[in-house]
Parts: sequence; structure tokens; C-alpha cells
Amino acid sequence: MKNILITGGAGFIGSNFINYILQNRDDINVVNLDKLTYAGNLENLKPIENKPNYHFVRGDITNVELVDYIFRKFDIKYVINFAAESHVDRSILGSEIFYRSNVIGTNVLLEASRRFEVQKFLQISTDEVYGSLGDTGLFTEQTPISPNSPYSSSKASADLMVQAFHHTYGLPTVITRCSNNYGPLQFPEKLIPLMIINALNNKKLPVYGDGLNVRDWIYVIDHNKAAELVFEKGKVGEVYNIGASREMKNIEIVKLILKKLGKSEDLIEYVKDRPGHDRRYAIDSSKIQNELGWKPYYEFEEAIDFTIEWYLNNKSWWERIISGEYQKYYEVQY
Ligand code: NAD
Ligand code: DAU
Repeated sequence: MKNILITGGAGFIGSNFINYILQNRDDINVVNLDKLTYAGNLENLKPIENKPNYHFVRGDITNVELVDYIFRKFDIKYVINFAAESHVDRSILGSEIFYRSNVIGTNVLLEASRRFEVQKFLQISTDEVYGSLGDTGLFTEQTPISPNSPYSSSKASADLMVQAFHHTYGLPTVITRCSNNYGPLQFPEKLIPLMIINALNNKKLPVYGDGLNVRDWIYVIDHNKAAELVFEKGKVGEVYNIGASREMKNIEIVKLILKKLGKSEDLIEYVKDRPGHDRRYAIDSSKIQNELGWKPYYEFEEAIDFTIEWYLNNKSWWERIISGEYQKYYEVQY
């Protein structure tokens, strides 16, 4: 049995990962360490919460004593670090918690991993560390790191620390850098769920700037299958980009969602641009495809339908979220 510490496993991608991996494998014990910030939700893990090889610990990855205790108690030999403050707009409203959780938190996990002789440490990073592209070109693993937002700077700092631990101490680390995810269980602050939920509630759909910024979209299950493969077979010390080559302008996505829900484009409202808004992201994923044999499985057209369907069928999940603390954030942000 592999004893794996998965951090941030109650968030969007982490919970999809744990649900996926525990439904498919019996050769692993998963310890999920999550602080349950506004973005963490144990409801997300209902499908696997009673499995004997699943354990949940509520806590902060910056807590050195707690992290040490978990490594000792569960004999942790593998780490997958999903935990992070993940929303760019929130990092613009206040950056301190991003530095604390994303940089210091990763450092605490790395130090413990060194002490407890971890056999693989997977850092879940993002394409945003590369900065912004012009109209052409793709991010490769050789693209220089050049983050622009407090969020992406914190993720880039964490990546550099992960690489330093490999270089200096020989810690067997790997880093994945994935593009924009979408799918079930994504917190309503992010573009796709925000637009679905606002459209369903006949609320305005706030599009930043001219709406022509481009993101490269991947279904969360495709990201998670790639992450599992890198965790199992990725070469230590390496970085792997993950993306499904599905570039779209924000306004195209917003109009598509309105069309699928049978709502009027009059709901679109162009609002003030995000400060420092990255123009375009696009991923070259040929390294993971050629070296590890991964390729995306889901077409955008079908997976966006699953996603919209999921939000239609899980109203109580998001209604609880948007009626709580989220309302205050929404008022400040919009
Ligand atoms: P999310 O905000 O939905 O979830 C983050 C989870 O981390 C939450 O459950 C939260 O409670 C937990 N967490 C935050 N700070 C913590 C701390 N200090 N200690 C313990 N737990 C903590 O985020 P997500 O969208 O699922 O992203 C997960 C990871 O994937 C992040 O590292 C993010 O940078 C990366 N990523 C996200 C995307 C995307 O499109 N969402 C793309 C590429 C990479
Ligand atoms: O690229 C990977 C990254 O994707 C991850 O590292 C981040 O954790 C994740 O949040 C995401 O970052 P983005 O900033 O690209 O995602 P977001 O959903 O916030 O915004 C997507 C695009 O939509 C972006 O160009 C801003 C725009 N947008 C977003 C919101 C929330 C709007 O126009 N209006 C909105 O209300």
C-alpha cells in the first residue's frame, strides 16, 4: 500500500482527484489534509468518505507540528500538493494569505518530505506561472517563469522551492502545470460556474474588459488522469505541462453558456477589467503526450454539457455556497 498525503483534497480539483483515484484503486491509502477554507467542502467527497483507505484531517499545511504528526502517524511516503489559495481576483484584493498558504505551506510540506524521506512529491502547479502570451505561441516547459498576479507569483515561488529541494537535497519531486480546468464541484467564483449560476438566476454576467482574453480549457478528469500518470511515471526533477488545446475567448464561453441555457445575451455586462489581466494562455502538452503517453479524452463540447448538467442537477450544492460568505465577496468584487 502506498500512503499518500493529498493536500487541498476538499477543493474542486483535489476532491475530483480523490473521488476518481479511490474509485479506481485499492493499492493506496489517502490522507486528505485540508484547512476547509471558503473553497473547501467535505460534501464533495461523499462518494468515498466511508472507504477504509480514506482519512480526513482538517488542518493547515503551514502548521509544522500537525504536518509532522501526520507524516509520522500515517507513515507518509508520497505527497500530492493541491492545497492553495486559487483565485486570481481574491489575490488582487489581498495577497498575504496567498503567500502564506501557497509559498510557506509548500515549504513546510517540502521540509517534512525531506525529513521523512518521501519517495515522490507532486506539486500541482499552473500555466499562469509562465505569464501571458501574445496572439501566437504556446507555453512549453522551457518558457521562462514570468508570473503577473499575486496568485501566480505565489505559485511560481512554490515551484522554485520545489525545484530547489530536488536540486539541493535530491528530493524526488515532479511539477505539473495545467491550464484552466472546468467540471463538477468547481467553486462558483470561477468563470464557468459563475456564468452558469448567474444565467440560471437571471443575474448579469460580468465580463471583464473586452471579453477577448483567451484561456485554454481542460476537463478536470483529464487533468487528474494526467496528474496520476505524472505521479506514477513522471521523471523526478521534471516539469510537465498539461492542457487539452482548447483555446477560447471568454466571451465565446459566456455566449455558449447562455445559448445552452436558452437565456438572452442581454444578460451580458461588460465590467471593469481585472488589473494586470493576462491576455492569453495556451499550453504545449507534447512532453507529457510523447514521454508518458497521456492525451486528453474529453471534447470540450461534451464536457461543457456534463458540467452545465451537473450545475442544473446540484442546485442545493451551489445555493448553499452563494447564500453564505460568498455574497460578501461578490459585493466587493462586482
Ligand atoms: P480550490 O480553491 O477549489 O481548492 C483549494 C483547496 O485547498 C480547498 O479545499 C482549501 O480548503 C484548501 N486549502 C487552501 N489553503 C490551505 C492550507 N493552507 N492548508 C490546507 N488546505 C488549504 O482550488 P482548485 O481550483 O481545486 O485548485 C487546486 C490546485 O490546482 C491549486 O494548487 C491550483 O493552483 C492548481 N490549479 C488550478 C487550476 C484551475 O483551473 N482551477 C489549474 C491549474 C492548477
Ligand atoms: O490557468 C490556470 C488557472 O486558471 C489556475 O491556476 C487558477 O487557479 C484558476 O482560477 C484559473 O485562473 P483564471 O484567472 O484564468 O480563471 P478565472 O475563472 O478566474 O477567469 C477566467 C477568465 O475569465 C479570465 O480571463 C478572467 C475572466 N473572468 C473571470 C470572472 C470570474 C471574467 O471575465 N469575469 C468574471 O467574473
